[in-house]
Amino acid sequence: RKNLVVAIDGYSSCGKSTLAKALAKKLGFIYIDSGAMYRAVTLYFLRNHTDMSNHDAIMDALQHIELNFHSRDYESHITLNGEEVSEEIRKMPVSENVSEVSAIKEVRTEMVRQQQRMGKSKNIVMDGRDIGTTVFADAQVKFFMTADPKIRAERRFKELQSKGDTETSLEDVFENLAHRDYADTTRKESPLVRAEDAIILDNTDITQEEQLEFALHKVTPHL
Ligand code: C5P
Repeated sequence: RKNLVVAIDGYSSCGKSTLAKALAKKLGFIYIDSGAMYRAVTLYFLRNHTDMSNHDAIMDALQHIELNFHSRDYESHITLNGEEVSEEIRKMPVSENVSEVSAIKEVRTEMVRQQQRMGKSKNIVMDGRDIGTTVFADAQVKFFMTADPKIRAERRFKELQSKGDTETSLEDVFENLAHRDYADTTRKESPLVRAEDAIILDNTDITQEEQLEFALHKVTPHL
């Protein structure tokens, strides 16, 4: 392919989007948060009480969903039918249901189609669960990120607290991450798995600056 694609996959809350944003900023690439798309679809399904076991209901809902990204300084802002939902999709109700929604075949087919279109001609950094295996199996650079589950839960817990969430405990966060990791790695449709050619990046003990430096070192030969 002519345009450069950097694919970042890995478990929940292990710093994929932080690295992806920093990398995109440094390289002048477009950052696409594929998880935000599954989260926005989940929000729509929850609000509209979509019957997730009904093929026709799912197809009908998907037809009524329009997602758009608005990049502000490499933060990813997503709109659902014109409404800014970036904050709402990070809250617990969506986190608790997103893995069920993202396991639905019809949902994945549509999201993958949209993601492939977004990365057709531009240089991009995309993070998610199946980017290096399914969406862009031909990506020139692939990373697979992991980190100690306890550290991941602590990081996400602090993030929720800083946003004013006082209801969710560290335990709740830990359980949600464990549940999503389990669901994401065991589902039938493109489960989370490391692509054979993905570079493993365990960030339990390394700083964000070190991760960025490591990643840049792998990408620059392809520029
Ligand atoms: O990346 P984030 O944690 O926001 O993703 C939320 C959920 O969306 C994941 O737990 C997973 O179920 C789903 N997802 C996916 N495929 C992707 C990105 C996210 O199934 N490419």
